[in-house]
Amino acid sequence: MNAPAVVPALQARMDDSNLSSRYDDVRNTTTRLARPLAIEDYVIQSSPDCSPAKWHLAHTTWFFENFLLGPGLPGYRPFHPQYGFLFNSYYETVGTFFPRPLRGMLSRPTVEDVYRYRAHVDEHMHQLMERLDADRDPQLIERITLGLHHEQQHQELLLTDIKNLLALNPMRPAYLPLPDALEIQATPSSQWLEFPAGMVGVGARGEGFCFDNETPHHRTFLEAFALAPQPVTNGQYLEFIDAGGYDEASLWLSDGWRRVRESNWRAPLYWEQIDGRWWHMTLHGLLPVDPDRPVCHVSYFEADAFARWSGKRLPTELEWEAAAAALPVEGNFLDSGSMQPSGSGNASRQMFGDVWEWTSSAYLPYPGYRPLPGSLGEYNGKFMVSQMVLRGGSCITPRSHMRATYRNFFYPPDRWQFMGIRLAR
Ligand SMILES: [Fe+2]
Repeated sequence: MNAPAVVPALQARMDDSNLSSRYDDVRNTTTRLARPLAIEDYVIQSSPDCSPAKWHLAHTTWFFENFLLGPGLPGYRPFHPQYGFLFNSYYETVGTFFPRPLRGMLSRPTVEDVYRYRAHVDEHMHQLMERLDADRDPQLIERITLGLHHEQQHQELLLTDIKNLLALNPMRPAYLPLPDALEIQATPSSQWLEFPAGMVGVGARGEGFCFDNETPHHRTFLEAFALAPQPVTNGQYLEFIDAGGYDEASLWLSDGWRRVRESNWRAPLYWEQIDGRWWHMTLHGLLPVDPDRPVCHVSYFEADAFARWSGKRLPTELEWEAAAAALPVEGNFLDSGSMQPSGSGNASRQMFGDVWEWTSSAYLPYPGYRPLPGSLGEYNGKFMVSQMVLRGGSCITPRSHMRATYRNFFYPPDRWQFMGIRLAR
């Protein structure tokens, strides 16, 4: 796969205040993440939830073309008249779009065409950014920033979807070789984090970028609670498996138990037993399950069943946020190059990075929530039903994309993201 041991330029922080250089950083990071792929890897769609790498590269580009260049750059003409239909994801108010489950059926445009599309849009985005005046165009600047955070979301999806694709291949190919410097574990703490009852402020205050679903900032009352200092480890989850956790209906929510039986779940996604030993597929190929690392690729149903088996519960999203609010956003992110949960974060709390942590909170609007005006109002608000919130980011989330108020959301059976468990009581 002619891959480097790590993706070197990911070390670069994106704290440059210059919008144009930040644009280049984010866009170049996406193409660097795609560099280890073989041409065949770009095209296949391994499940209806996943998208081909080629589609991620084009869709993030379409976002800038549709929401920035069309309305903001006089005389701009779309690169191709069909690309809006092919690479619009779900914006009904923008127009019709190609069916998501069929994205992997498109051999055209070619990968080369998509890279030409990216170059074309980048060139025109630079023209647009050169003309921008911070006083006259604050809305366009905000939109570009939104487009960059959108692209960072797709960087993570690109990797999760590639992992899913490579995992179904019996050759168990690695996206990248295992880096040498992966052994950076903090000393685990057994001390639970105690928080007193009281009023707390939650949600984004409008300092720096946030998505609309993080607003408005508001107060809420929390009863006293405690959080485990780290996410649940593979070793702890193995105890649940060995104790018959997947065979005991009383541990499971009804929908979860049905899913366990229908899909014959016996372990987290990507785990397999070989000669009595557990292995799992990673972006570095098939590796032995390390009992000290955070468990990953579990559904909400599994997280909830594990918590019940442990005599504990999952935290609410607002408990999680109150516990993380004052902490620096440090941990094992994409920037580390490890692409595996390592347990390397802040030893006393380890709230950020490694794995997205399922919370017991349904994904709902905050009191007084207003979606963005226009088509971008479809970005978050219309998904506020039937999904659960996850917090904290993962080992493949760009660090500059994360903050304590960030709300990720997935359906309870979903497992292909880097999802893990933190216990509460
Ligand atoms: Fe998107």
